[in-house]
Amino acid sequence: MAIERAGVVGSGLMGSGIAEVLARAGLDVVVRDISEEAIASGRTSIEKSLEKGVQRGKLSAEDRDAALARLHFTVDMADFADRQLVIEAASENEDVKKAIFAELDTVVTAKDAILASNTSSMPIIRFAQATGRPDRVLGIHFFNPAPVQPLVELVVSELTDPAVVDAMDSFATDVLGKVTIRASDRPGFVVNALLIPFLFSAIRMVEAGHATKEDVDLGMVNGCAHPMGPIALADRVGLDTCLFVGQSIYEETGDPAAKPPVLLSRMVDAGLLGVKTGRGFYDYS
Ligand code: CAA
Ligand code: NAD
Repeated sequence: MAIERAGVVGSGLMGSGIAEVLARAGLDVVVRDISEEAIASGRTSIEKSLEKGVQRGKLSAEDRDAALARLHFTVDMADFADRQLVIEAASENEDVKKAIFAELDTVVTAKDAILASNTSSMPIIRFAQATGRPDRVLGIHFFNPAPVQPLVELVVSELTDPAVVDAMDSFATDVLGKVTIRASDRPGFVVNALLIPFLFSAIRMVEAGHATKEDVDLGMVNGCAHPMGPIALADRVGLDTCLFVGQSIYEETGDPAAKPPVLLSRMVDAGLLGVKTGRGFYDYS
């Protein structure tokens, strides 16, 4: 089945990036968020990113306009009715995601449509079980920024049909031009199981006064050739997302390295979520 019509739930950091990737690959894309304000913000970030792509010589002005014309924004889940693939990229909250999957199951008419989650850490099987088609559900985990990072992790639940995984592997590589890896449905999959303890170690160093945030970041950029340091990366991921991902991994594994640092919780309590709110560990205003 050639996938021509896709849907994305959520138009935040990841939803807008994923929608851009799909539209640039030639798909017709419906993007749904819960408010006109959220939709407007998602549309603006896609327009900015496409413009940056043009400036960097990654796509032509005609391709930018064609990609924008393939994107349709809505607050209505019913607009997913004719979609062949829907990727959920709403906030990292299990109840919110379960409700979305239950609704998608009733709204998306084609019974062979694929329903995917971009969750960073949560069990795919719990979303699959909220539907009547758990074999058609898997994790398709993009990395931030989605139009730039090549990786897509395919997360396979105990009930995912292997043919669905193979189909999404071909789609991600051949149509989207991404690099894929496969992971079982375990907390943090591959990349976040490694990344979150690293980010939390860096935050704990700052919290303990062992080093400044600037020096932690300079150390990893200049000592280990990371494109950005862990404190700046946590700000970019979103401190709320880092917290939710850590909580979810810690809850299931009890791994102390994934236990969110108190400083991180306090910053989220204070609404200091990083780049998306203009202030996190660093100031972006
Ligand atoms: N469209 C297409 N290409 C673009 C683009 C766009 N909108 N924006 C940038 N690019 C391209 C550039 O042309 C450039 O390509 P070349 O190397 O071929 O020249 C490349 O992307 C890098 O762009 P910039 O030099 O402009 O870099 P930048 O400073 O704007 O952005 C960054 C840098 C890509 C964010 C880089 O700092 C980086 O990779 N940081 C680490 C990001 C990371 O680790 N992400 C993973 C987070 S964890 C996660 O996502 C999982 C989770 O579940 C939480
Ligand atoms: P975000 O806070 O930027 O955006 C979340 C969006 O979901 C918001 O616009 C919110 O209004 C919307 N939303 C909430 N409930 C909704 C609903 N019922 N229907 C539609 N939209 C709804 O978060 P984000 O960083 O884009 O993260 C989204 C998902 O992607 C999370 O599961 C996160 O773990 C995952 N993820 C994040 C990153 C990252 O670096 N931030 C990377 C990979 C995966």
